[in-house]
Amino acid sequence: MSLLTIFYACLFYAATAVLAAGLALKVAQYAGTPAPLKIPTTPAPTTRAGVAWRMLREVALFESLFLANKWIWLFGWLFHAALALVLVRHLRYFMEPVWGVVEIAQPFGVYAGFAMLTGLAGLWARRFLVERIRYISTYSDHLMLALLVGIAASGLAMKYVSPTDIVALKAFMLGLMVFDWQPLPADPVLLVHLALVAALMAVFPASKLLHAPGVFFSPTRNQADDSRERRHVAA
Ligand code: HEM
Repeated sequence: MSLLTIFYACLFYAATAVLAAGLALKVAQYAGTPAPLKIPTTPAPTTRAGVAWRMLREVALFESLFLANKWIWLFGWLFHAALALVLVRHLRYFMEPVWGVVEIAQPFGVYAGFAMLTGLAGLWARRFLVERIRYISTYSDHLMLALLVGIAASGLAMKYVSPTDIVALKAFMLGLMVFDWQPLPADPVLLVHLALVAALMAVFPASKLLHAPGVFFSPTRNQADDSRERRHVAA
């Protein structure tokens, strides 16, 4: 067993532990935070079913962002939709046999890699070109964009410039999940891709990327406009 395989195996176990424990802690913290006031953004649904429908539109279409800013919506939605497709395509490295839906996603997943980069480029350009946004941008805003661009660029480089041994990589990933370590191909681009992914997993619970689980706990989005029908009692 090479040192490289041992290093990356330990790296992924550590990153997974930080991601899972960090996310669980943050979600518990969000769930336990009282919402003392009834503050749904109006016009808001008046029933729980209506709230679920609004949340679905928010998560799938970024509805409120669309109403607020068309450019950010365009690049933001493009990036997230492409990311979802890329992740579905990646599931083939973690399952055997591969689900039908994952197989169907394969050809689209490659184009999604380019769409993901385009979305990220638009979102990043705005942090330099729009004066107001440049003023409020922090190092961590840039770091998250850089990490995601690095992951997408190294992924596409593997596809088009310097391919890796996908069969061996899949054996490594499947092996990790059952604690039966298999050798990891020593291709530099793959090693960069995986190191950046591990870094993303580790910083996720301490980063702005928490907006993904966070949106479900946002009182302006998850409350029904029923203050005349029901008394709102905060925990
Ligand atoms: C441990 C997890 C991961 C592994 C093992 C992995 C592995 C790979 C491999 C082998 C490729 C080349 C595919 C090919 O040549 O057909 C690739 C491509 C790519 N990866 Fe990853 N990757 C992982 C996580 C991620 C994550 C989390 C992202 C996004 C945030 C990502 C984004 C991409 C993109 C955009 C491409 C290019 C498009 C494509 O081939 O799907 N990867 N990845």
